[in-house]
Amino acid sequence: MTEVILALDVGTRDAAVSIAEKTGPYLDAIKIGYPLVLAAGLTIADELSAGGLPLIADFKVADIPNTSRLIAEEVFSHGFSGIICHGFVGRDSVLACVDTAHDHGGECYVVTEMSHPGAVDFFHGGIAERIAALVCETGADGIIAPATRPERTQMLRTLIGTRKILSPGVGAQGGDPSAIAGIVDGIIVGRAIYESADPAGAAQQYAQFRSLRGTNP
Ligand code: XMP
Repeated sequence: MTEVILALDVGTRDAAVSIAEKTGPYLDAIKIGYPLVLAAGLTIADELSAGGLPLIADFKVADIPNTSRLIAEEVFSHGFSGIICHGFVGRDSVLACVDTAHDHGGECYVVTEMSHPGAVDFFHGGIAERIAALVCETGADGIIAPATRPERTQMLRTLIGTRKILSPGVGAQGGDPSAIAGIVDGIIVGRAIYESADPAGAAQQYAQFRSLRGTNP
């Protein structure tokens, strides 16, 4: 099944809780990061995780190993089940996040290539491929790869095998869910759900793509 992961980048605690409650029946996980946590505080993570859906911390951790470990420890003490880190920082920093996640029974996803147009400035030319190799070496649980470039995500799939791919860029950034859902394990959708006049209806629409997993392996 291709999971539907809501990127809940709203600016208040009340909006976050309200949208999470409305859309929850159509979701498989919720991802939060700097926008919501800086606005509402890290306790929002405890509150959302109590709702029962897995919660992924998108802090794109990119620091020295000790600081990355401290960030990951804080994340997993607040109910998160997964963390996203950058890969370009190298093996030791990625390992700090992977090991801390696994110590807590959680998962670590590594950004291999981002979804926005400027990502091609640095991630193309072999970097994404090298990060994918690092993911396999470090035992990370999966990668973040772009829904906006299905051909690149397909290429990354060949490098990481059955490790998970979570894919942002669907909806507001132009990514077509029908083109990516068959390649990946989860689509990450933000604005197309939380800015909709009917967030539950929008989430339900994306839930239709759950059945596409493996149709384009
Ligand atoms: P939208 O509103 O564009 O939100 O659907 C997308 C969400 O995903 C995050 N994002 C990324 N995270 N690598 C990541 O780790 C990426 O390439 C990437 N692209 C988008 C974004 O911050 C937002 O939460």
